[in-house]
Amino acid sequence: MITWDDKYSVGISSIDEEHKKFIDIINKVIDAKQHTDNSIEITEILNEMNKYVLTHFANEETYMIKCNYPEYDDHRKKHQDFSIKIMAFLDSVTKGDCRLACELLEHLKNWLVNHIQGTDRKYINCFKEHGLR
Ligand SMILES: [Fe+2]
Repeated sequence: MITWDDKYSVGISSIDEEHKKFIDIINKVIDAKQHTDNSIEITEILNEMNKYVLTHFANEETYMIKCNYPEYDDHRKKHQDFSIKIMAFLDSVTKGDCRLACELLEHLKNWLVNHIQGTDRKYINCFKEHGLR
C-alpha cells in the first residue's frame, strides 16, 4: 500500500488532490490483487484508473500549455507511456497472466511515486509563476 505523505506534495492543492485519488486507486488494485483472483474485479478498478489517469493527465497538460511549460513534450510522452502500461496490465489481467500482471503492478507503483516526486516537481515553479496555488 502507498500512504500519502507530504513528500509527494507538489504544493499545488488541486494537483495534490488528484494525486491522492490516484494513490487511492493504485491501493485498490493492490488490495484487490491480495484478496481475490477475480479478474473482473481487478479489471473494473483498472478501468477506473484508466479513466482517472486520462482526466488527471489532461488537467496537468492543460496547465502546461497555459503556462508555456518548456518540458511539455517530454512530460506528455511520459504520461502516454504510463497509459500504454495500464493497457498492457489490463490485457494481461484479462488473459489471466498473473506473473506479468504482478510485474506491471510494481511498475505502476514505482512509476507513480517516481513521477510525482521527480517529473511533476519540475513544473512547480513554472505553474506557481503563472498563479497556480
Ligand atoms: Fe505528470
